[in-house]
Amino acid sequence: MCGIVGYIGEKEAQPILLSGLRRLEYRGYDSSGICTVSSDKNAISLRKLPGKIKDLERLIHKNPLSGNVGLAHNRWATHGAPNQTNAHPHLDCKGEIAIVHNGIIENYAKLKQGLIKEGHRFSSQTDTEVIVHLIEKYYRNIPLEEAVRKALLKLEGSFAIGVISKREPDKLIGARLGSPLVAAVGNNENFLASDVPALLDFAKDVIFLNDKEMAVLTRDTIKLSELSGRAVKRSPTRITWSASEAQKQGWPHFMLKEINEQPKVLENILSQRIKKDKRRVFFEELKIKEKELCSVKNITIIACGTAYHAGLCGKYILERVCRIPVNVDLSSEFRYRDAILSKNTLVVAISQSGETADTLAAAKEARRKKASVLAICNVLGSTLVRESDGVIYTHAGPEIGVASTKAYTAQLAVLYLLAIYLVQLKGAQANPTISRLITALRLCPALMKKVLKAQGSIKSWARKHSNFGSFLFLGRNINYPSALEGALKLKEISYIPAEGYAAGEMKHGPIALIDEYRAVVCIATESVLYEKMISNIQEIHSRRGKLMIIASEGNKKIKDLSQEVIFIPKINELFSPLIAALPLQLLAYHVAVKRGCNVDQPRNLAKSVTVE
Ligand code: AGP
Repeated sequence: MCGIVGYIGEKEAQPILLSGLRRLEYRGYDSSGICTVSSDKNAISLRKLPGKIKDLERLIHKNPLSGNVGLAHNRWATHGAPNQTNAHPHLDCKGEIAIVHNGIIENYAKLKQGLIKEGHRFSSQTDTEVIVHLIEKYYRNIPLEEAVRKALLKLEGSFAIGVISKREPDKLIGARLGSPLVAAVGNNENFLASDVPALLDFAKDVIFLNDKEMAVLTRDTIKLSELSGRAVKRSPTRITWSASEAQKQGWPHFMLKEINEQPKVLENILSQRIKKDKRRVFFEELKIKEKELCSVKNITIIACGTAYHAGLCGKYILERVCRIPVNVDLSSEFRYRDAILSKNTLVVAISQSGETADTLAAAKEARRKKASVLAICNVLGSTLVRESDGVIYTHAGPEIGVASTKAYTAQLAVLYLLAIYLVQLKGAQANPTISRLITALRLCPALMKKVLKAQGSIKSWARKHSNFGSFLFLGRNINYPSALEGALKLKEISYIPAEGYAAGEMKHGPIALIDEYRAVVCIATESVLYEKMISNIQEIHSRRGKLMIIASEGNKKIKDLSQEVIFIPKINELFSPLIAALPLQLLAYHVAVKRGCNVDQPRNLAKSVTVE
């Protein structure tokens, strides 16, 4: 969750480091810091404090830093309160080495004890500070990178680090295990960062470090090696996102921008994945052999949060289209439950960031059990992608808002395409047929646009209910996961207690909650179970529950039960989650804005949960 930026080149490092940090703000943080080393002054200058980057900028304005090698960091506290002492960067005893770190060092207490015994003086409560004192311990008559290597081999846990030293001001070291780190190639300058958006203003050619790898950057070289010392060759990946794509482009919040990008994202996914003849699906980057996919007898989906809700939809989609049994597991449960997988189980790991610790661990566990792992992921070259047997990218572009929106519908789109692809492979006539599915799917971007064109009415629908103290979201069948996702969206950005439930479960408890103080959002679009949903709505209506209904256009009767109805275009029920997601996202967004919440950076949350 912390953000790392490093620079080495011919320019002053300070402005570049601060610009990179600002682009990482979305990851959530509680303190920030920066340091540079200037060869003329032969000293490390450092500024750090709790609070936002604008506070750091005020501090630096009074007392700027010079030097063209530097590190910057924003911290999401795991060990030690968010205060100045615990903010990064951290220095060794003599102030000759500086480090920034993202991750958790699980054996730091024991290492710290030993180092204190050897006379090292600690100033913080962080696990990170152990690393810089370990480097100091080894940094005698060997190059900085070798001292770093020795130190890292003593660590247990996860790390992405940046290290500089005043003794070798022409070097910047990066290394990672379990937390993401990328290097980027500039012109007479090179960069290090925990995430691509930090670099997009300066470089497009990015090298993703793998676990247990180190990068030694000088102003004109980047040398990769394994922590064991073996040299590694890896060519850069060209990032097609522009710096502006990772900005708001005039929208009030990233989240609203990303909600409105969904039709375009879906169009791109379909155009890249459906052959010109519009009758066949293909995935160029899949890598898992067709023969292996044909032998798949069951699927287990692992994911967290919104990605998990996409996975629950995936169960309905894959079972309906492919007639393959699908099990969906929370990654944090799967990784510890010693799951039973058969040799024909395909494990599908869904993750927007590709860095979610629980999903990475669950994917590792699946591979330990010899299952093939297919990643559905939004970040090129992310850890999950590099640790899976195959990948289908969602190509949703950078998703900056902490609340996932376009990545969610992109994950759904990929699951529809995967279902069609698996049926295609088997050559069997699908039920329903492949071309009918593709035709329905290709209608969806236009239907999304239609919903977004009417978002003004969704905004007033939302704002009218923004004072309710709690919400219940109800859905059936393939829109049961939509109800779960609607509840998550609302709670995570407006902090209002919200629960998603299968509507059929109403009588098994939730009906006790119904009264005029509770808003009940019902997804009552066209469905084989529509009448069942109406009975639930009548039960709520008779108990004076405050109904908010999402229904299909042309439904003339629904307003007899509530005036608070949002109509969305009709679509084959199988695809309705793609459309129903939009009013649910906009409901959450507008309620949160009305309540003055920090929509893009909700409290306590981070965009990528890289620690468990
Ligand atoms: C979704 O709005 C949340 N921010 C969160 O639940 C997220 O979906 C979850 O942390 C999984 O993230 P991932 O898709 O990057 O793995």
